[in-house]
Amino acid sequence: MGEKCIQLLHFSVVLLVFCGNTPVLGVSLEAKIRCMEREKQALLQFKETVVDADGVLSSWGSEEDKRDCCKWRGVRCNNRTGHVTKIDLSSSYMTGKIRPSLLELQHLKYLNLDGNDFGGGNQIPVFIASFSRLQYLDLRGNSFYGPIPHQLGNLSNLRYLDLRWNQLDGGNIEWLSHLSLLRHLDLSYVNLSQSTNWAETINSLPLLKSLRLRGCQLPNVVPFNSSLSLKFLNLAGNNLSSSIYSVLFNSSNNLVDVDLSSNQLKGLIPDSFGNMISLVNLDLSWNQLEGGIPNSFSNLTHLQTLFLQYNSLTEELPEFLEGNSLQVLNLEGNKLSGAIPESIRQCSSLIKLFLGNNILNGTVTKSIGRLPKLQVLDLSSNRFTGHVPRVPSNVTLLYLSKNMFSGSISLICTSVGVQLRYLELSNNQLSGELPDCWDMFEFLSVINLANNNFSGKLPNSMGSLNNLQALQLRNNSFHGELPPSLKNCENVRFIDLGRNRFTGKIQAWIGMHLTSLDVLSLRSNNFYGGIPENICHLNHIQVLDFSQNDLFGELPKCFNNFSSLVQKDGSKAPYRLWYKEYNSLYTIGHVYKGNALVQWKGEEREYTNTLPQLKIIDLSSNNFHGKIPKQVATLAQLVSLNLSRNNLTGQIIQEIGQMKMLESLDLSGNRFSSEIPTSLARLNYLSMLDLSNNNLSGKIPSSTQLQSFNASTYSGNPQLCGLPLPNKCPGEEIVVKPHSNDTRSQEEEEEEEDRFITPWFYISMGFGFTVGFVVVFGTILFSSSSRHTYFQFLDGIHNWLYVTTALNIARLHRRL
Ligand SMILES: *[C@@H]1O[C@H](CO)[C@@H](O)[C@H](O)[C@H]1NC(C)=O
Ligand SMILES: *[C@@H]1O[C@H](CO)[C@@H](O)[C@H](O)[C@H]1NC(C)=O
Ligand SMILES: *[C@@H]1O[C@H](CO)[C@@H](O)[C@H](O)[C@H]1NC(C)=O
Ligand SMILES: *[C@@H]1O[C@H](CO)[C@@H](O)[C@H](O)[C@H]1NC(C)=O
Ligand SMILES: *[C@@H]1O[C@H](CO)[C@@H](O)[C@H](O)[C@H]1NC(C)=O
Ligand SMILES: *[C@@H]1O[C@H](CO)[C@@H](O)[C@H](O)[C@H]1NC(C)=O
Ligand SMILES: *[C@@H]1O[C@H](CO)[C@@H](O)[C@H](O)[C@H]1NC(C)=O
Ligand SMILES: *[C@@H]1O[C@H](CO)[C@@H](O)[C@H](O)[C@H]1NC(C)=O
Ligand SMILES: *[C@@H]1O[C@H](CO)[C@@H](O)[C@H](O)[C@H]1NC(C)=O
Ligand SMILES: *[C@@H]1O[C@H](CO)[C@@H](O)[C@H](O)[C@H]1NC(C)=O
Ligand SMILES: *[C@@H]1O[C@H](CO)[C@@H](O)[C@H](O)[C@H]1NC(C)=O
Ligand SMILES: *[C@@H]1O[C@H](CO)[C@@H](O)[C@H](O)[C@H]1NC(C)=O
Repeated sequence: MGEKCIQLLHFSVVLLVFCGNTPVLGVSLEAKIRCMEREKQALLQFKETVVDADGVLSSWGSEEDKRDCCKWRGVRCNNRTGHVTKIDLSSSYMTGKIRPSLLELQHLKYLNLDGNDFGGGNQIPVFIASFSRLQYLDLRGNSFYGPIPHQLGNLSNLRYLDLRWNQLDGGNIEWLSHLSLLRHLDLSYVNLSQSTNWAETINSLPLLKSLRLRGCQLPNVVPFNSSLSLKFLNLAGNNLSSSIYSVLFNSSNNLVDVDLSSNQLKGLIPDSFGNMISLVNLDLSWNQLEGGIPNSFSNLTHLQTLFLQYNSLTEELPEFLEGNSLQVLNLEGNKLSGAIPESIRQCSSLIKLFLGNNILNGTVTKSIGRLPKLQVLDLSSNRFTGHVPRVPSNVTLLYLSKNMFSGSISLICTSVGVQLRYLELSNNQLSGELPDCWDMFEFLSVINLANNNFSGKLPNSMGSLNNLQALQLRNNSFHGELPPSLKNCENVRFIDLGRNRFTGKIQAWIGMHLTSLDVLSLRSNNFYGGIPENICHLNHIQVLDFSQNDLFGELPKCFNNFSSLVQKDGSKAPYRLWYKEYNSLYTIGHVYKGNALVQWKGEEREYTNTLPQLKIIDLSSNNFHGKIPKQVATLAQLVSLNLSRNNLTGQIIQEIGQMKMLESLDLSGNRFSSEIPTSLARLNYLSMLDLSNNNLSGKIPSSTQLQSFNASTYSGNPQLCGLPLPNKCPGEEIVVKPHSNDTRSQEEEEEEEDRFITPWFYISMGFGFTVGFVVVFGTILFSSSSRHTYFQFLDGIHNWLYVTTALNIARLHRRL
């Protein structure tokens, strides 16, 4: 067979000599290469057993025009022998089993099945170990399960091995030591907890350049010798202790990229880092490192990204020397103190600076405003004082919340440029009126000014913010009517104007134009008048809070239009979160947590993480009258309904039993009459009920639940009788049951909060996460070339999403 090919080749060379490259004949070397019939059949058999929903293999077939398998998508042959040497089916989203028939491809050097599902929860097929010429093997993200066949050690030509993102049990990985040509090894998320000799194994790979063992549950053994060839090292998420790195860095001035994040590294950061002069990226975040940032870091002139966030670092920030290359510096979540040194201006390459969550103080140096490339500035949760600093004009994300900044923010009109997307100034002591320059910020998507002392009216120019998604102004002293121009902010999803002195009617344009709203809180203002019917057009709404205003009139009869609160399958309309950029140039992340102050089981609380689950209608403390409209009962997803302290009358609707998810129901302080509907007893999740101070009568229906509430739930209804009330119903003998005290211990309250955060919550959090990601960085998700960026992102946030969740999201993503 091979001989024939050579003849063929010879023939075409002759042809070429005589005919040149004439397109008429169309003969070229390439065109004459035909694959081996047996190899072709093997590929066709492979195709038979896979499910190829996207038709990636449509060029594979036995038809006449497809007969050269070397031209099939993802297949490459040796151009002399015609043997198949390369199969690249990465990111094809195929499922099914790999058949041993593939073994026919004995000349295979390159096999890439990344991003399919050929594992289906089964083991890696042993026959893969028989591709004796294989140099490149990538099986990542295929849901392979169980032990890795040690026969893979037979693949002695292997240079590249990637098995990450499966559910593999590494067992003993000694077989790896036979792969002496290996340059790139990635076993991230393979369970290596039993591989006590992993370090020796790795040491025996002299050519290894890149080692990634992220999230492998590595046993904490004597550290390994960093081979001189190693450039990329990732041992993140392994619970390793400090002894690892103290040795690692003796001989390692070739290391370019080191990630030891999310381990148990303790003590000081060794000075010896200063010897690693080739370092470009260093990540020691999420450990327990102490002390200051060593001066020896100033030696690292190539360092572009430095991540030390979430350690216990103390002392002041180091001085920055001229000529550094830093692009991303993340020191968030430490105990760094003092002021930002003026020498920060030496970091002229800086793009992202995260100093949040420390105890930095003083006024922010003017040098910050002179970092020409700065796009992300996070100084939140520190003790900075003085005015909001002038920031570089290219800043897109500005986080200054939770400090002691004071005075007006009119500077933003002249300092910040058109790129601004996030403006987070909450929890400061800012005051004065808002400037009227919002029309400059066409990309602005989040404004959070909550918990300051701003006053005045909302400026008209806010209506130019077409991209606004969140507007949080809670707890200031704003007053006046909402500017009608706000109706142009049609993408807004989150409005919290609570605890101000806004006034005027709830305008019809809210329901007509702001139909993307998830959260609308007008709580505790001076709004008056009725609720317009078209408020029910807000069919994404999950939190609707109009409590503590001067609203009156009847409740609208259209609540059944709140489709996100009605639909049975809640997952169809998950609450959407926003995520802010984070970390390095290639990872993204950092949550924007839309938080809301809501009344939950009788208490005002600020909810952040749990918000996705909160589906609340709160119209309490107004002056609504009339009956509860029947349509309310269609809100099958509603978790909390509060209509207390109004002037509502009539019966509590019998249909209330349909609101199956209800956990909290407060109808107290109205004039409801007649009997309590028996269907109330069917609300299995109900754990807070208040019907007090109405005109209810008759016997409290019997159910374990309704009798388990305190008597205070029913008090102030003179004609109500039966347990747990002390007054017995006519003709009934009653034993008064002693009930527990009203004041609950703190423990009980915490328990309650915990109960709220169920495993179900974490799952949906993961889901909301993905969805939020789609919203903000949608292009990344759906372009397969950027898929790895997405996984890098997953890696980056693995600290708060456990591996399994990440895997689930990865899988979910693949199905999207
Ligand atoms: C044949 O393949 C080799 C290696 O892949 C390549 O260097 C060479 O240019 C190819 N020759 C032709 C004529 O395509
Ligand atoms: C691995 O190599 C050994 C000896 O070289 C051989 O006996 C064995 O069959 C090989 N295993 C596989 C799966 O190819
Ligand atoms: C990893 O493997 C060990 C031992 O086989 C096992 O005890 C542990 O539960 C595994 N870890 C995970 C996350 O599966
Ligand atoms: C590290 O290398 C030295 C010599 O190069 C060797 O003696 C030692 O055993 C190695 N350590 C490990 C853990 O392999
Ligand atoms: C991490 O290591 C600590 C001791 O350093 C140990 O107590 C803890 O159980 C380990 N955690 C895991 C998940 O292995
Ligand atoms: C690493 O270097 C330090 C001094 O710089 C030395 O004390 C230590 O023995 C070295 N460790 C190894 C394993 O070479
Ligand atoms: C900086 O690097 C040089 C070698 O390039 C080394 O001699 C010196 O000790 C290092 N300085 C620090 C502070 O680590
Ligand atoms: C900043 O905090 C340090 C203590 O960490 C204190 O000595 C210093 O006076 C503070 N500076 C200002 C301006 O508050
Ligand atoms: C600011 O951003 C604009 C647009 O992205 C860019 O053209 C300009 O070069 C940036 N300026 C600096 C100093 O980086
Ligand atoms: C808030 O501003 C008002 C004036 O607008 C002022 O009277 C009040 O003292 C300020 N409150 C705080 C806490 O700064
Ligand atoms: C409640 O409504 C009735 C009429 O339905 C009215 O007479 C009464 O004043 C209202 N109560 C309050 C507190 O507004
Ligand atoms: C209820 O509270 C009173 C005083 O607040 C206390 O004396 C009594 O022991 C408490 N009873 C129970 C059952 O906790």
